[in-house]
Amino acid sequence: MIFRQLYDSVSGTYSYLLASRPGGEALILDPVLEKVDRYLQLVRELDLKLVKAVDTHLHADHITGLGALRDRTHCITVMGEQTKADVVSMRLSDGDKLTIEGVSLDVIYTPGHTDDSYSFIMPDRVFTGDTLLIRGTGRTDFQNGDPRQQYESIFGRLLKLPDATLVYPAHDYKGDTVSTIGEEKAYNPRLQVKSVDEYVALMNNLHLSNPKMMDVAVPANMKIGMAQDEIARRGWALDAKQAAGMIGRDDVVLVDLRETSEREHHGAIPNSLHVPYPSLQQNITSGGILAQRFRAYRSTIVFYCAFGERSAMAVQAAQDAGITTACHIQGGIDAWKKAGEPVTR
Ligand SMILES: [Fe+2]
Repeated sequence: MIFRQLYDSVSGTYSYLLASRPGGEALILDPVLEKVDRYLQLVRELDLKLVKAVDTHLHADHITGLGALRDRTHCITVMGEQTKADVVSMRLSDGDKLTIEGVSLDVIYTPGHTDDSYSFIMPDRVFTGDTLLIRGTGRTDFQNGDPRQQYESIFGRLLKLPDATLVYPAHDYKGDTVSTIGEEKAYNPRLQVKSVDEYVALMNNLHLSNPKMMDVAVPANMKIGMAQDEIARRGWALDAKQAAGMIGRDDVVLVDLRETSEREHHGAIPNSLHVPYPSLQQNITSGGILAQRFRAYRSTIVFYCAFGERSAMAVQAAQDAGITTACHIQGGIDAWKKAGEPVTR
C-alpha cells in the first residue's frame, strides 16, 4: 500500500493519500486548499490517478481542497450524507464502503464533533477525523456538536476496535503523528471518565475560543459544489421532467455513473445502463459502448449520477470525445426523486 501523511502547519491538519500500487487509483482524506499543488505534485511523482477527495466532516479551521481537486483532476468529492456542503459528488452513510482500486475503507458515522463527522476504518488503522485526536477529542461546542453523541461515537464505536489499531486523526497541534486505540484508551485524558455525564460536563467546560478561520472556512466549505451552469448554458442539461419524457425511447441511452453501492442504496432510473464514472473514458472513446451507440444510431446519451457533478464532468468528456448528443440530468437522481419520478431497486 502507498500511504502518505501530509501536514498543513497553518491549520495543524493532517491529510492522507492512499493507493494500492504505483500507477493505480488514489484517494485523499481531508485535503487543505493551500496544499493542493503539493498534493498534485506528489500524485504525479508517485504515478497515481486521484479519483476521490474525501472530507471526514465540514471543517471550521481551514478551507477544504475538495473543490479545487475536483476541478483540476475530475475526481469525485465525497462527504457524509449529513453534510451541509452544497454539493458533493457522492454522499456516504454508516455501513457504506469507501473504495478505490485495491483499497476499501469501512465507513462509520461518528457524530459529536460535528453532526456530519465520519471515521474510516482499514484492517490495521482508523482515520478518526476530529472525533478522536491524539490525547484529545474534537471540540463539541459548534456546528451541531454534541458531547453525548461524541461519547457514544468514541466509547461505543472507535474504542471497540482492537487495541493495536493505528489512530490517524485529522489534526494535531503538538507534533504527534499517530497513536493506537489501546494507547488512547489508557492515556487520553478526555477518556478517563466514568460516565457519559462526566464526559459531557468535561466537554461543556472547555471554554475554547473559536478557530481563527471559522468565519471564513465554514461558509467557504459549504459552497464547494461545481457550477453546473456552464453545462446548462451550452444546452447540455435536462431537468428531471424532461429526462423522464425520454425514458423508453430507443434513440436514448440513460447512463448511470454511480457505484453499485449507491444504486443499491438509492435506487436507479428504470432501464438505465450502468457505466461507473471511473470507467467512463474507455466507454466514450472509440470501441466503447457509448461511442458505438452514438456513431451507429446517433443515440442521445443522457448521463446521470447522484447530484449532477460526475454527470456534468462526463458530459464535457463525452462532448470532447465527439459525442455531440451527450447531456445530463441536472441535480442527478436526487433531483429526479424530488420531482417524484420512479426508481427501481
Ligand atoms: Fe473539525
